[in-house]
Amino acid sequence: MKNYFKHDEWLIIEEGFNPSYNRVSESVFSIGNGKIGQRANFEEQYSGDSLQGSYVAGVYYPDKTRVGWWKNGYPEYFAKVPNATNWIGLNININGIPLNLATCKLNSFRRVLNMKEGLLMREFEAILENGDIIKVTSTRFCHLHKSSIGAIEYNITPLSSSSKIEIESYLDGDIENEDSNYDHKFWEEVSQTVELNRSCLAVKTLKTNFIVATASETFLSLNGKEVKSNFSQNTKSKYVSVTTNCQLAQGETLSINKYTATISSLDYQAEKISETAALLCKEASSTGFATLKKEQAAAWLTHWNESDIIIVGDIAAQQAIRFNIFQLNQTYTGEDARLNIGPKGFTGEKYGGSTYWDTEAYCLPFYQATAGTQVAKNLLIYRYNHLAKAIQNAEKLGFTDGAALYPMVTMNGEECHNEWEITFEEIHRNGAIAYAIFDYIKYTDDQQYLAQYGLEVLIGIARFWAQRFTWSNHREMYVLLGVTGPNEFENNVNNNWYTSKMGCWCLRYCKESIDYLKDNNPEAWDRIENKTKFEAKELQKWMQIDTNMYYPFDQELNIFLQQDGFLDKEQLTVSDLLPSERPIVEHWSWDRILRSVFIKQADVLQGIYFFEDEFDKESIKRHFEYYEPRTVHESSLSPCVHSILASKIGNYDKAYSFYLRTSRLDLDNYNNDTRDGLHITSMAGTWMSIVKGFAGMRVLNNQLEFTPFLPEKWQEFSFKIRFRKTLLKVSVSHLNCSIEQLEGEKIEIKINSENSQTKGVTSHA
Ligand code: BGC
Repeated sequence: MKNYFKHDEWLIIEEGFNPSYNRVSESVFSIGNGKIGQRANFEEQYSGDSLQGSYVAGVYYPDKTRVGWWKNGYPEYFAKVPNATNWIGLNININGIPLNLATCKLNSFRRVLNMKEGLLMREFEAILENGDIIKVTSTRFCHLHKSSIGAIEYNITPLSSSSKIEIESYLDGDIENEDSNYDHKFWEEVSQTVELNRSCLAVKTLKTNFIVATASETFLSLNGKEVKSNFSQNTKSKYVSVTTNCQLAQGETLSINKYTATISSLDYQAEKISETAALLCKEASSTGFATLKKEQAAAWLTHWNESDIIIVGDIAAQQAIRFNIFQLNQTYTGEDARLNIGPKGFTGEKYGGSTYWDTEAYCLPFYQATAGTQVAKNLLIYRYNHLAKAIQNAEKLGFTDGAALYPMVTMNGEECHNEWEITFEEIHRNGAIAYAIFDYIKYTDDQQYLAQYGLEVLIGIARFWAQRFTWSNHREMYVLLGVTGPNEFENNVNNNWYTSKMGCWCLRYCKESIDYLKDNNPEAWDRIENKTKFEAKELQKWMQIDTNMYYPFDQELNIFLQQDGFLDKEQLTVSDLLPSERPIVEHWSWDRILRSVFIKQADVLQGIYFFEDEFDKESIKRHFEYYEPRTVHESSLSPCVHSILASKIGNYDKAYSFYLRTSRLDLDNYNNDTRDGLHITSMAGTWMSIVKGFAGMRVLNNQLEFTPFLPEKWQEFSFKIRFRKTLLKVSVSHLNCSIEQLEGEKIEIKINSENSQTKGVTSHA
């Protein structure tokens, strides 16, 4: 729904409660801190439609896959970051009547996400079934630096009469996942303790045995003064609570403060995990809500100082980019190379919370430019640590000699997708992982990475491609059979141009990297050569493949074709579709989709985006103008790539409209699927649409350059990036593009192809 949330530079505001839109709002108002995260479920009970969601990073359950006819090579399980202990719960009874927004009338309702300070807030006035009117305001957050801590302040004011308020503050680990393949529950209880106002619950995932402990302390105060209350305690299986009550005169305000600490056995010793959680919780409650909240605002200020994009003159665009940056920063903080970025982050169950090619193809540039080298490096090391498993994955499919096929979907390096028809043959992900190494080294200049980690991964990947391409006697060329490109509306096709292009590029890049190491770090090369049992003849084969690769091309159109036979399809364009047929994935049979010309997301254009330097502007334009009208953008990953390419070819109106589409995808629920969770990974694409698209940032010949333009509606935009050892502020206005160097040694930067050294400020009209 467009414009459902009010436009504001720093806030997302929902005015009025719309139960049928509640799941969308729960996604949009999600909060997290890289370790824990949750949907914006209500603290008090709610019997209306809701998707409850609290998640703990890195903790997963291997749900058995659902497949009709089993074939060799199918994954055994689909990993899910399971919905974990609900720590926000407060059951409130007012004069014996449960507070439940599904059963009372609302005089007012406002939900706010304060992105500047990292707070989720609500305020409403409700008329209960007996006519009592009460006002509630609440604030909660997941502490950005004390990553186990969740804190809630919940204020209740009876407006119409004196009231007896009963409060049950609980931890509920008896949780279900809506997308469980066989309706199984994923948790069993380990321990529970409850005493006075404190409780602690430890639960364990079945099969994987991750323990998650959550401790909680609850306090009351009346009109700002702490009340010493008596609590009674309650327990049942996987559930603990403390209950108390308080008599309020009309107009008095009762505040409930709930502090929680949630930790997992990924980070803490399992034997002492409940004690540790209780201790962390105690520390938080002693610090107090007001101080924790100040710390939260300060932590977010630091993030914003580094990663904000300021847009002058367009509030909808400003709000949207901040929303995207906010969600990215609360999903991944980059301290732990075991963690990664699920397509939905901590905002829903879809995609299982697992890692996809999205990380390398979309997310890396954002983190490497805004959070710095180590954060980006951890994303790459994640895959390095999975190399042995990638080799095993390839072996399971019949590949040999150290060939590595990274999974399309993974938690621990094993392939674990749930949708074999599509995902099985999307081997292009192997290319994105190699490309990310290339991009990281190019951007950060961390040449050491190749010797330390990168080259082993590249060799495994190159070996895979060398075995996956097939020599065709008929064509007397190499071909690529039975693949699915990024466009998932085609399955198991021959010679998908993007995948072949990517595969050959990997062979070349790996060879270049070997040559580089031989020349610059022969010791490292010796070590890697031995470790990988590398043989020189492998290089010859790679180059032979590369020079003899078949790419589908149409002379008349003068473009590369997405795959063999693409022109046999009925050549419709998206303008031929009725609005009622869209999204086609919801309205058409799979058979019809596969036969149609319609493209889910950038495919050939994804390749042109990655390998832009190999194409002149005219050629980029030709490809864009052929493929874009046939693209339905039913993947969130699509509009951003189109926006960047549209900027490149000077189609600024399209660049801007794709920017709005990508940046407001969830705020305006463009694809009608925000209820399932936010499109976190494509949010990094939104950032790229501005930085690589509108500002035209590239690293070419070892030099940073910008080719900026300003969208018509904007007066100015500016952002900061870390590039190698520098911190730069880039501002683009109608008059000029200026680059201010805030840290590091002066470097040469090109603006609109002209060289200039940053001397504090560099300006180009
Ligand atoms: C896209 C894939 C993507 C996945 C997770 C799918 O809809 O087609 O490219 O990896 O979503 O974001």
